[in-house]
Amino acid sequence: MAEVLEQPEGTFVTKEQNVNPWSVSGEVNEDGTVKPIDYSKLVEQFGTKLIDEALLERFERVTGHKPHRFLRRQIVFSHRDLEVILDRFEKKEPFFIYTGRGPSSNIMHIGHMVPFQLTKWLSDVFQVPVIIMLTDDEKYLISDHGRTVNEYEVYAQENAKDIIAVGFDPERTFIFSDFGYMGGDFYRNIARIAKRINRGTADACFGFDSSTNIGKVHFAAVQAASSFAGSFPFMFGPDSNQIPCLIPCAIDQDPYFRLTRDVASQLKYAKPSLIHARFLDALQGPGSKMSASIESSCILARDNPKTIMTKINQYAFSGGRETLEEHREKGGNPDVDVSYQYLRFFLESDEELEQIRQDYKSGKLLTGEIKKKCAGELATFCTSFQERRAKVTDQILEHFMTPRPLLCRGALSNTLLPSVQGKSGASKGPVQDVKDPNSKSQAKKMKKLEEANAKKALKAREKEAKSIATATAGVAALSVAENTAVGEDTVTSTSSLT
Ligand code: TRP
Repeated sequence: MAEVLEQPEGTFVTKEQNVNPWSVSGEVNEDGTVKPIDYSKLVEQFGTKLIDEALLERFERVTGHKPHRFLRRQIVFSHRDLEVILDRFEKKEPFFIYTGRGPSSNIMHIGHMVPFQLTKWLSDVFQVPVIIMLTDDEKYLISDHGRTVNEYEVYAQENAKDIIAVGFDPERTFIFSDFGYMGGDFYRNIARIAKRINRGTADACFGFDSSTNIGKVHFAAVQAASSFAGSFPFMFGPDSNQIPCLIPCAIDQDPYFRLTRDVASQLKYAKPSLIHARFLDALQGPGSKMSASIESSCILARDNPKTIMTKINQYAFSGGRETLEEHREKGGNPDVDVSYQYLRFFLESDEELEQIRQDYKSGKLLTGEIKKKCAGELATFCTSFQERRAKVTDQILEHFMTPRPLLCRGALSNTLLPSVQGKSGASKGPVQDVKDPNSKSQAKKMKKLEEANAKKALKAREKEAKSIATATAGVAALSVAENTAVGEDTVTSTSSLT
């Protein structure tokens, strides 16, 4: 919950809504109540666009897949240039997906899972490579004194296993920690970016002041650098900064990418596109987000069904009435009811969700009943997550964290851009940041090159597939298990529904 300061007279200090990468709190009223986060205000403030029906229809038309429930229910509510990605998908031009996690502890809660569930689903729909950044450096830089670099590196490894257990495809996904991967073309891009962001811009964007440590200021360039394909030369090649990415993230990460998009224009790199998710409310109610360090605020991915039921019963803010009679007569308020809100995130069936909403509003469904339904859904989610997590070995982790070509729509990503290799197959050396990725001729050229390489890619893939299959036998088995277990998040094709 947002901190509310009580003054001696019993009145409260009012506070404006505040959403930034390090803290999230709703507006605080004079009477001390915390309001739900106003997401439309954020869209206005950040200058993003709402995801509307027309865009969702286009998504479905272009991909042939019914949008994920997060998209259908405005949980993923805002975007920047999603159309650019849909255009590329339509034209069969390469792109990748980039997301990340700050490993602040070795515990992940169900709110942390939301962007990863979305990312996994998108990568299955688009069949493009996924880059997952673990910002162990960022979390160390903002930690209390006394914490060590090594602690955050260990958290990164543990978190990576949790993320793998969401069900990512081992042939399409690269996970890295900043401490582990720093250097090479990644660091070259970081330096190019850092050079183009001045203190004034960073201060205005993030609220830094003279007490902010310089590592935190510089980190903005690190998070930005993964938006550019050239930071991962094994993927599309070192000369690939014009290949754009789609970044699924929670809305609080937008400031990083606003800066990134500005710098991309200066460098003539492809601007990243974004889709933004809202937060999963803390158990205490709207106006705050779950925090893994406050156990009573969240459901942990590792919680068992009994703990989940107890937490929901004890802490989940209720939109129900004081007494049974009053509830039956006037009905509950699903908009503030935490159990209903969690069902919106985790219950797949739109029809069932709507029935629950109506029954709760009319008073037919009681608080205890909606809590039970919610705890049951979360228990199913957490249990199947834990089953998959138990299968993630150190060997599988190592595979995901090894730089290697990734599959992009069935072809090996490093065969898609022949310009990178040149005729001799040798790298052309450092990029000179001059091509405009948005020009038509560039797009045409890319398409041609891509087609010319389709055959080559397939051959190469067959050959590679053999060795990958041997190296990741365990991962492949896991992936099959995941796709069965993660049922609600596997891709549903429109055509199979009609
Ligand atoms: N800074 C993010 C966090 O603290 C981690 C992160 C890095 C990220 N890159 C990202 C999140 C890209 C979303 C998208 O959690």
